[in-house]
Amino acid sequence: MTPVKVVEKIAEMRSLRRGLGEPVGFVPTMGYLHEGHLSLVRGARAESRSVVASIFVNPTQFGPREDFASYPCDTERDLALLAEEAVDVVFMPSAAEMYPERFGVYVDGGKVTERLEGACRPGHFRGVTTVVAKLFNIVRPTRAYFGQKDAQQAVVIKKMVADLNMDMEVVTLPTVREPDGLAMSSRNTYLNPAERRAALVLYQALRLAQRLWLEGEKDAGCLRREMIALIQREPLASIDYISVAETETLDELDKVKPPALVSLAVRIGRTRLIDNIVL
Ligand code: PAF
Repeated sequence: MTPVKVVEKIAEMRSLRRGLGEPVGFVPTMGYLHEGHLSLVRGARAESRSVVASIFVNPTQFGPREDFASYPCDTERDLALLAEEAVDVVFMPSAAEMYPERFGVYVDGGKVTERLEGACRPGHFRGVTTVVAKLFNIVRPTRAYFGQKDAQQAVVIKKMVADLNMDMEVVTLPTVREPDGLAMSSRNTYLNPAERRAALVLYQALRLAQRLWLEGEKDAGCLRREMIALIQREPLASIDYISVAETETLDELDKVKPPALVSLAVRIGRTRLIDNIVL
C-alpha cells in the first residue's frame, strides 16, 4: 500500500490543494481514529474525487481542566488507516503553525454555542469554530464531513458556514456504535472494564426516551425525568446534562415535536461521554 501524503505546513497544503481533482471531501479529526472517523472518510471517498483528512489536537477547544495533555494519540496507526481508505492528503500541522505567536482572531458561534456542551465547557466552541474555519480556509473543501455523535458541533459548524457565506457544504453522517450500543469515541479508551460496562447507560437512557416517545409520551419533561432516573441507578455515572431540544436552535422543548434532539453528557468515573438520538 502506498503511504499517505502527509503535509505539515499551511503553504504546502495550499499549493497541493491547487492540484487536487474536484470535488474535494474533507474530514477534520483530532486523530486516534476509530470506525466513526473511518465512516466519515468513506462517506467523503464515495462523493469526492479527492479526500483530505486533518489530524490536529486543537488546544483552543480544551478547557484548563480538560484532557488536552493526555488526549490519546497513535499517529502511525492513524496514517496507516487513512492510507487504507485511499485518502489523498493528511494535513497534520503543529500548534505553532496553526496559532503563531501573534494569533488573535477567534470565531464566535453565537447563541447556539451557549447551551449544552457550550454551557458545560466554556470556550469550547470558540476553539472549535476558530480551528474549523481556519482548516476550511486552508483546505477549501467542496464538502466537509462530521459525525452526528457531536450533534451540537455539527449544528454550530453548519450555522457558521451559512452565516459566514462559506462556499461549501457540511455533511453529517450517523453515529457509529459498538455492537452493545456505546457510541464510538476516542475517549472510550479511558474507561476501565467496570466503567466500560457502566457507559452503556448513556445509550440505554436514549433508547428509553425513544421507546417512551414511540409509545405516545409527548411531554419532554417526562422523558428527561425518566432518563435521569435510569442514569442515577448507575453508581459510576454522574449527569452533566440531559436535553430534549429543537434540532437547529437547540432550544429546550416542553412538548416533543419531531425532529427533536435528545442528547446527554454523563461522566463515567473521570471520563466525560456524550451521545444523542433524533426523535
Ligand atoms: O470533532 C473533532 O474531532 C474536533 O472538534 C474537530 C472538528 C476536528 C475540531 O478540532
